[in-house]
Amino acid sequence: MIGGAFPLVRPFLHRLDPEAAHQLTIRSLAMAPALTPARDDARLSVAAMGLSFPNPVGLAAGYDKQCEVPDQLLALGFGFVELGGVTPRPQPGNPRPRVFRLAADGAVINRFGLNSDGLSRCRERLRRRKGRPGIVGVNLGANKDSADRIADYATLVAGLCGLADFLTINVSSPNTPGLRDLQGEAFLDALLARAVEARDRADEAAGTRTRLLLKIAPDLALDALDAMTATATTRGLDGLIVSNTTIARPDTLREAALGAETGGLSGRPLFSLSTRMLAQARLRVGEAMPLIGVGGVDCAEAAWTKIEAGASLVQLYTALIYEGPGLIPSIKEGILARLTAEGLDGLAPVVGRRAAEIAQG
Ligand code: FNR
Repeated sequence: MIGGAFPLVRPFLHRLDPEAAHQLTIRSLAMAPALTPARDDARLSVAAMGLSFPNPVGLAAGYDKQCEVPDQLLALGFGFVELGGVTPRPQPGNPRPRVFRLAADGAVINRFGLNSDGLSRCRERLRRRKGRPGIVGVNLGANKDSADRIADYATLVAGLCGLADFLTINVSSPNTPGLRDLQGEAFLDALLARAVEARDRADEAAGTRTRLLLKIAPDLALDALDAMTATATTRGLDGLIVSNTTIARPDTLREAALGAETGGLSGRPLFSLSTRMLAQARLRVGEAMPLIGVGGVDCAEAAWTKIEAGASLVQLYTALIYEGPGLIPSIKEGILARLTAEGLDGLAPVVGRRAAEIAQG
C-alpha cells in the first residue's frame, strides 16, 4: 500500500526540505502496522554468515539512524535492514542544511555527521522488538569529540550484541573528521581486535551470535584495500560492506552547483566506483568472506551487476528517495526473471563470476 501511494506523494515530499521529507517518511512508517512481509520466492534466498536471508535486497545504513522502524521497513519486502549509524553518546551532527538532492543525477550529498540519539536510546528501541523475525543489523560510529574512538566501537559492540544479527564497524563515513583515518592498517587492526574481543565476551554471556562486519569507503587506494581485506580476514570478521558514500565528484554530475556541497555522494554516480571497489574486494577475499554490495543500486540490472561483481547481498538507500518502496519488489522480480532466463535456481553461481572483468572497469 505504501509502495503504491509513493508516486502520488513524491512531488509533495520532494518540495520539502530533504531532511523534513525524510522525517515525515519515518513518522508515517512508525504509524503503519509492522505487517509480516509476503513470502519471497525460494530462489531469492541467500545463505550467508550463518543466516538465511529471504532475499538479497537490503536497506543500507543511514535511513533509520535512530532504530525506530525496523519492522515496518522489513514489511516493505527488504531481505534485511541495517539501522544506525549509532554513536555511544547522543550527538547532534552537523548544522542544517546537511543533505541535498541532486535530482538530475539520481544522487544525494549528505554531511549529517552521524547525528545520533546515542546507544542507550537505540538499545532500548531494539530491546522492545527483541524476538521478532527479520534480519536486522546496526551500523556503528564513533563520537565526533571522542578521546578514544577504538573504545567507542567496543562500547557499542558490547551494548548491542544479542539485539542485532550483525553489527557494522563504520570507519568510512566522510563526515566525521578523522574517522576515515581509522581505516589505516595499525589502527584498524587494533580496532578490530577490540571489537572482536568485546563481541566474543558479550555473545558468550548472552548465548547469542552477533556477526561483525566492516564497511569501507569507495575511495581507497588498492594497496589500502589489500591491507584492509587482510586485516579483516586475520581478525575473523564475518563480512565486508562495499561501499560508503564517496568524497569524489565525477565530472559527469549534472547538478554542478549542488555537487559543490561538502559531504558524501551517493546514488547513481556512485555505482561504477563502488562496484569496481566491490569487485576488487572479491578478488582479494574470494569466497572466504561474504560481501555486501552497496552504492547506486536503483534497478534489478544494477543489483545483478553487484552480485556478478562479488556481492552475496546488496543494499540501497538513495534510489528509495527517488523511486519509493515499489522499487523493492521490482528489483526482486527483475532478479527472478534473470534467474529464470539462465535456468538457475539460486544466486550462488552468479556471485563474483564477473569480478575480474568489473575490477578493471
Ligand atoms: C548514508 N550512509 C551511511 N552509511 C553508514 O555507514 N552510516 C551512516 O550513518 C550513513 N548515513 C547515511 C545518510 C544518508 C542521508 C545517506 C544518503 C547515506 C551511506 C549508505 O549506507 C550507503 O553506503 C550509500 O548511500 C551508498 O548507497 P546508495 O545510497 O547509493 O544506495
